[in-house]
Amino acid sequence: MTDVPTEADAPIPLRDAAEQYGATYARLQKAAHDGRLVVDRRIGKNVLVRPSEVQRFLRENGRTRASQSQPSLQEAPLGKIITITTLKGGTGKTTTTFNLGAAFAEQGKRVLMIDIDPQANLTQLCGLTPAPEPTLATAIMQWLRQRAKTLDQTIVETSFGPHAQLVPASLLLSRVERELLHAPRREYVLQELLEDVAPRYDVVLIDTPPSASDLVNNALVAAHEVIIPVIPEPLPVSGLQYSIEDVAKIRETKLNPNLQIRGVLITKVDRRRAQHREAVPQLREAFAGEVHFFDTIIGDATRIVEAQGRQRSVLQYDPSGASSQAYRALVNEVMHEWQPAA
Ligand SMILES: Nc1ncnc2c1ncn2[C@@H]1O[C@H](COP(=O)(O)OP(=O)(O)O)[C@@H](O)[C@H]1O
Ligand SMILES: [Mg+2]
Repeated sequence: MTDVPTEADAPIPLRDAAEQYGATYARLQKAAHDGRLVVDRRIGKNVLVRPSEVQRFLRENGRTRASQSQPSLQEAPLGKIITITTLKGGTGKTTTTFNLGAAFAEQGKRVLMIDIDPQANLTQLCGLTPAPEPTLATAIMQWLRQRAKTLDQTIVETSFGPHAQLVPASLLLSRVERELLHAPRREYVLQELLEDVAPRYDVVLIDTPPSASDLVNNALVAAHEVIIPVIPEPLPVSGLQYSIEDVAKIRETKLNPNLQIRGVLITKVDRRRAQHREAVPQLREAFAGEVHFFDTIIGDATRIVEAQGRQRSVLQYDPSGASSQAYRALVNEVMHEWQPAA
């Protein structure tokens, strides 16, 4: 790292910076206005900023200087549980869990990712074969049969760093799902299993299968907050309505009266497609007042897919790329409400 400006760090217009780093122009404008984002120079109405300063601002959540906000493992863990869910398949649930997990880990947070999808895609992205033992499935079985809590024994390391771990899934989860049907308090199993485990982590991220099921209900009952990824196309949009209603149902039936939708994350946005460009503001407007949308959007990016092919997060594979910056910005947005007001 160097403080000497390099060509790659040449000042760029604020609007370009917003586009490049997946932040809203309004947010950067406001930060530049009140001095939290240091402006390189102003030419008339044009504001120029250095990319490194925008990165610092997004990394620091626009609140403090780098040196003040280094996370410390001395601090008590936050213990937040977030479920990533929608009924639609292919909207980026697993990709969001994986890269958000990496982005939290990069900030020094203690992260546990949980794969509760029998397809075990997250498990595979983490470089494990889909049938490792023990898994979440065996832990649930042992709870159902012997009231034994063995989730701890399923936890494995990931490549995201020493404080980022995974509870893997396997196909056995589909059998677990059938067993759950007849179990008493069947929606509360994951909550029970996490009771002693979650408080050791800053954040627990649960990746869900794309169907209404007892597995998904378990993930919704165990969580404090939900993130709903949606792609800007007509069918997933109606899926969003269902997902919002699903969370409301979990709250109203008192299965989890405090469950909050933390935000909707618009993903796989292809800016070359007019339909996608138009759909983003339309989507925000259609659901305005009903649900919060993250400022950050995730573009449709070859880098994300290439990284997955190598079982790496995009933050590991392309650390300075736009997608990595977007996931970092997303972490800041997610954590914003957890932190005491500045
Ligand atoms: N932002 C993105 N850009 C490009 N491809 C993506 C992006 N997010 C997800 N994908 C790809 O789309 C497919 C579905 O994503 P995935 O995360 O598995 O969705 P889900 O878990 O909701 O089924 C995967 O092949 C994944 O690599
Ligand atoms: Mg998935």
